[in-house]
Amino acid sequence: MALYGAAAAVLAGMEARQASLKSLVYGSRFQNVKQLYALVCETQRYSAVLDSIIDSAGLLKAEKKLRPHLAKVLVYDLLLGRGLRGGGRWKPVLARHRARLQAELARLKVRRRVSRNEDLLEPASGARPASKVPRYVRVNTLKTCPGDAVDYFKRQGFSYQGRASSPEELQALEGKRFFLDPLLPELLVFPAGTDLHENPFYRAGHLILQDKASCLPAMLLAPPPGSHVIDACAAPGNKTSHLAALLKNQGKIFAFDLDAGRLASMATLLTRAGVSCCELANEDFLSVPPTDPRYGRVQYILLDPSCSGSGMVSRRLEEPEADGPSPERLRALAAFQLKALRHALSFPALQRLVYSTCSVCQEENEDVVWAALQQSAGTFRLAEALPAWPHRGLDTFPDAARCIRASPELTLTGGFFVAVLERCEGRSSSPAPKDQAEGPPANPQGTRKRKKRKKQQREGGGSE
Ligand SMILES: C[S@@+](CC[C@H](N)C(=O)[O-])C[C@H]1O[C@@H](n2cnc3c(N)ncnc32)[C@H](O)[C@@H]1O
Repeated sequence: MALYGAAAAVLAGMEARQASLKSLVYGSRFQNVKQLYALVCETQRYSAVLDSIIDSAGLLKAEKKLRPHLAKVLVYDLLLGRGLRGGGRWKPVLARHRARLQAELARLKVRRRVSRNEDLLEPASGARPASKVPRYVRVNTLKTCPGDAVDYFKRQGFSYQGRASSPEELQALEGKRFFLDPLLPELLVFPAGTDLHENPFYRAGHLILQDKASCLPAMLLAPPPGSHVIDACAAPGNKTSHLAALLKNQGKIFAFDLDAGRLASMATLLTRAGVSCCELANEDFLSVPPTDPRYGRVQYILLDPSCSGSGMVSRRLEEPEADGPSPERLRALAAFQLKALRHALSFPALQRLVYSTCSVCQEENEDVVWAALQQSAGTFRLAEALPAWPHRGLDTFPDAARCIRASPELTLTGGFFVAVLERCEGRSSSPAPKDQAEGPPANPQGTRKRKKRKKQQREGGGSE
């Protein structure tokens, strides 16, 4: 199916509330999922503006066979996006209406007294709309270095502004300007909405398009080159590729994921990124035996389990009015997350673990970490994660402020949570937890109900 047809079908599905944006995009037959996802999100973001332009230009009255969702996608790309790419028989039709549509866009801007397309968007509630989160780009140090990436973008006509000194500088970023992030090495920051999916440097694996908050887990785990690491819930693999870059491809990453489809995309991503130190396994992490000698040298674990995804910027744009996950769903997710965390803490050589989610719900974050710490009976403690980071864990238990939170409003990122757990000196691990041990909520899916769990994980959010 062609791009515009696929995007129109996804928009129609969303309007009919058939499924979430993510499932509709993955369920479409269009191969370039990222391109489709970006086009749908952007069209959706400008939905009200596009409706108004299409209506005042009389496009649907003049072209009776043009369906409204397709019209919206085509007009988005024609006026606000990258110009019509293909478009088949609709391309000449849109060309006939181009001048009228452009005139309506200009008229709308005059009426609203704005000069940029972006300013036509109604600000979302809250201080800083999610749509203003900058485009973060991690330089893949397995293939290049920040200096070369900066030179590359300068040659592409971007203007380099140096290392940003404050979030305000990043917030004001626009046009073809970019910064180095003030806190994270190897992270470039471009204006919100900068689309680099077709950029050759990205396509060659030199760059990873990854939100700043999602770069924190691997950075805070910080495994030195040569070490053995487990990435427990790894697909689609952005954090795994980050870990491999920190390891300089020396050592080993054991990466697990339940979802074979996501693992297949992950294998492509890792090859493109030049990762050679990773073993992928389509396995349930909960069934990986901690005492297996293969994992005898694993001192570092990254646990980024399925979550509600309530912090994801795309979800906030997609469902701005949504109430968030239901209490039942939260309970089920938190039970799985706690079980996975306890399992991870039972690996005998483990020294340091990072737990992260792209959820903003306390139930999936502070509550899970606190329950796991209590059940570890003093074997592990919370390390102070990145003290310079301004947004801290909710004050729900002693030391919760050692954890990190992230949000569009306070850190100009997606909503996120990170906790770093360290083994207390001289303490060895307790045995792996049994199902429903000591009162933690049970794994909602049950270890034998693998199919059902797979479905639930697929529906769960991802912090990729
Ligand atoms: C939030 S996503 C991980 C994102 C990934 N860390 C990244 O940065 O690209 C959660 C992943 O956990 C996987 N998953 C869920 N339950 C699992 C289990 N019991 N064992 C292994 N993987 C699991 C899901 O299939 C999903 O791909």
